Amino acid sequence: MDQTNRGRLTKDGIRIYESADFEGMHVAGALAARILDDIADHVTVGQTTGELDRLITQWVDEAGARSATIGYKGYQHASCISVNHVVCHGIPGDKTLKDGDILNIDVTVIVDGWFGDTSRMYVAGKLGRKAERLIQVTHDSLMKGIEAVKPGNTFGDIGHAIQTYAEGQRMSVVRDFCGHGLGRVFHAPPNVLHYGRPGTGPVLEEGMFFTIEPMINIGRPETKILADDWTAVTRDKSLSAQFEHSVGVTAKGCEIFTLSPAGRFHPTQG
Ligand code: MF3
Ligand code: CO
Ligand code: CO
Repeated sequence: MDQTNRGRLTKDGIRIYESADFEGMHVAGALAARILDDIADHVTVGQTTGELDRLITQWVDEAGARSATIGYKGYQHASCISVNHVVCHGIPGDKTLKDGDILNIDVTVIVDGWFGDTSRMYVAGKLGRKAERLIQVTHDSLMKGIEAVKPGNTFGDIGHAIQTYAEGQRMSVVRDFCGHGLGRVFHAPPNVLHYGRPGTGPVLEEGMFFTIEPMINIGRPETKILADDWTAVTRDKSLSAQFEHSVGVTAKGCEIFTLSPAGRFHPTQG
């Protein structure tokens, strides 16, 4: 079969994969998640984000997989590492981590043509109280979104679940970036918004594969892109957090492809 046009497309252009395709997504998702498990012990005060990315690059290679981000629109790294007020797409480099820094590490791998995309939060040194609360709310908002994933619900239901929870905790949802369909490609329809109204947007069907990856800010939701053309930061410099899973819709709900093998998805677990 052709590498990319398996299954069928809905009227919204969303690919419906077959049940046999879930296995490939589980293998790719598990590798990305395992790499995020293994990097945790290297997130320490004084460490550079460039060294973290070097390890990730090496582990992707050792697994016989490929990085989806190296060469993607000119991006040159196997991870995005977004520290403190960086919302997403932080570029690994010489920056050293300081005590209390919080960071998102986002990894996408390709295994046998299947894409596994996941990110989670880490802390260098001691986690501060405000940062801890932000991380908890962001993690829980992703999980509320995932709970809304089942056939017959809509993408607006997912966004609504995330938004009402995060805003109910007096935090804000970033509007400028969203989740995405994936499978045999990195970014495909639909845009998975992390805010929305119930019953709006495309209806979820069994066999859809996509990410949910809410970015939540302590302050205002607005972002801006730095001169490097990648790094997105909060305009008000408030702390931002993000968690991301890749999921597949099943008859009853969904399967999460990027579950942590070691149970370390949340930084205060494991
Ligand atoms: N992994 C990111 C996502 O969740 C995309 C990163 S693209 C890059 O969609 F080029 F910045 F790496
Ligand atoms: Co993604
Ligand atoms: Co990602």
